[in-house]
Amino acid sequence: MEIIYSQALVIGGGLAGLRAAIELKERGLDVTVLSLVPPLRSHSSAAMGGVQAALATSCMGARDSVALHFEDTMKGGAYMSDPEVVNCFCNRVIDSVYQLDSWGVPWTRITAGRRVLSDGRVISESFESHGKIAARNFGGTAQWRTCYCSDTTGHNMMRALLRKAAGSGVKIIDRIRALSLISEDNRCYGVTALDLRSGKIRVFTSSTTLIATGGIGRIFKYSTNGSICTGSGQALVLQSPGGTLANMEAVQFHPTALVPSSVLVTEGCRGDGGYLYNSKMERFMEKYSPDKKELASRDIVSRSMILEERIGNAVENTWGNHFWLDIRHLGKEHIDRHLREVSENSICFAGVDPVKDLIPVYPAQHYAMGGIRTDISLSAQNYGIAGLFAAGESACWDLHGFNRLGGNSLGETVVSGELAAEGMCENFSNNGYTPSAAVITKEYKRQCERLVKLEEKAGSNGVTFSKLTFDLRSVMSRYAGVFRNEEGLKLAKKELGRILEKVDGAVVSKNFYSMSPEIENALECRGMILLAMTVVEGALARKESRGCHNRDDYPDMAEEYQKRTLTRWNNDTQSVMIDYEDVSLHV
Ligand code: FUM
Repeated sequence: MEIIYSQALVIGGGLAGLRAAIELKERGLDVTVLSLVPPLRSHSSAAMGGVQAALATSCMGARDSVALHFEDTMKGGAYMSDPEVVNCFCNRVIDSVYQLDSWGVPWTRITAGRRVLSDGRVISESFESHGKIAARNFGGTAQWRTCYCSDTTGHNMMRALLRKAAGSGVKIIDRIRALSLISEDNRCYGVTALDLRSGKIRVFTSSTTLIATGGIGRIFKYSTNGSICTGSGQALVLQSPGGTLANMEAVQFHPTALVPSSVLVTEGCRGDGGYLYNSKMERFMEKYSPDKKELASRDIVSRSMILEERIGNAVENTWGNHFWLDIRHLGKEHIDRHLREVSENSICFAGVDPVKDLIPVYPAQHYAMGGIRTDISLSAQNYGIAGLFAAGESACWDLHGFNRLGGNSLGETVVSGELAAEGMCENFSNNGYTPSAAVITKEYKRQCERLVKLEEKAGSNGVTFSKLTFDLRSVMSRYAGVFRNEEGLKLAKKELGRILEKVDGAVVSKNFYSMSPEIENALECRGMILLAMTVVEGALARKESRGCHNRDDYPDMAEEYQKRTLTRWNNDTQSVMIDYEDVSLHV
């Protein structure tokens, strides 16, 4: 058994993980990052639109302030976010943007004169601010606040952070999958992990551990998330004694996913002036949100699209119903400079050129507001597991409430990563490291036995993990999508129960390689099912509509549900336990 000890361990090599690792290293801890994929391939790289930060540099954001950013975030989140967290975030994200600038993020700058569309909307900047960091308009905001690098903001941030991490001497091990938390008496001491190059199980112990593994999108059939976004970190916590997740039913659907691939088409398209049309070529958002129209917040736009589909106004297509996004009027020069990835993706994945064609779009799962419950220092100690922290999308410190504002997640990765590292340093000095050899060995053996069992049964008759995963995703997209109701959620619960019953007997195909995608899927399938159950149970119990959680049978917001949902897994009864905690209303 190989055991590697680090003072600090970070699971996840995306933006939140790297930002934390840089901070940990700079504060003097020896840190190891475990990344499922080479970091530049993490899903953070796919983030397009930008980072909301009240720099107030742009002419259309000149009256912006932390207070306005705070207000937009609270309102967007249906007043369910933690106001203290929101306040802390809105203040700190400004410094983060300038820090990233100094680390080499090539923010798009204000260069051109003002451009105004025929309907009076301004789509680019006044040139008095020439050279300053530009901001674009985004949904649900009072001012232009979203700083961006064309439409490849995540990728540019990743490159800068990776360079910085390498320069700081952060140790990154990629192609490795965390399999379980090593914990004793509700304290985390690291993880077991499968080395995807050698096929060997390795043990990584640590004094303080961070999970930053991103979202759960791939428990849905239609998602803008990359294939690695299976909620692996959340599942590890859920399956550990005491592990607590929060607000799992709060799932965001992005209105403009490309049809049929569900690749993201950034909100920046509508921020920059794009229109949405139904099958009659009507700008239907004028009806649902006369003020904000296409730039209403995401929950409103996604909901409106489904309502429009229900009255027969979606465009029918062999590949699935859709709506049209039109950015042709922005012109080639604007598209090439500000929306070039949208252009490439539309050509590659849908065969349309946005300079002259309409883009087919439909809502798809995009973001999980829920995740590993932590306090404002990103620590899970008060929620069941000491020595454990979470950051980025895998965490629920509750910045987003029941609907995240576009542009608040990229900022959250770096702010929460930095804050988590501060907390981890404190945790490191306050807690002695007391590994129990027996616990480590037991967990190591348990994981080895899982692999051996998979190998022994490989190729035998039985349902495959791939089939179970396919079924799980179909159930989730069908019953736990933009609109939900009791009947559908009860069916989903039943179906998920059936899938769970089959998972222990499921098999992989004959060609057993311990590092194949099929084995990886087999290893995480159970966790994905349990996460899906937390979403469905949370949605079933929440008899109201709030933010992105829309119940056909309970269309109104209900005060009694102004509470944060907490979910734990009961291994004895093999069921989800739901509890609630109060949300505070004041900073
Ligand atoms: O549409 C987008 O570019 C997405 C941004 C976000 O989710 O923050």
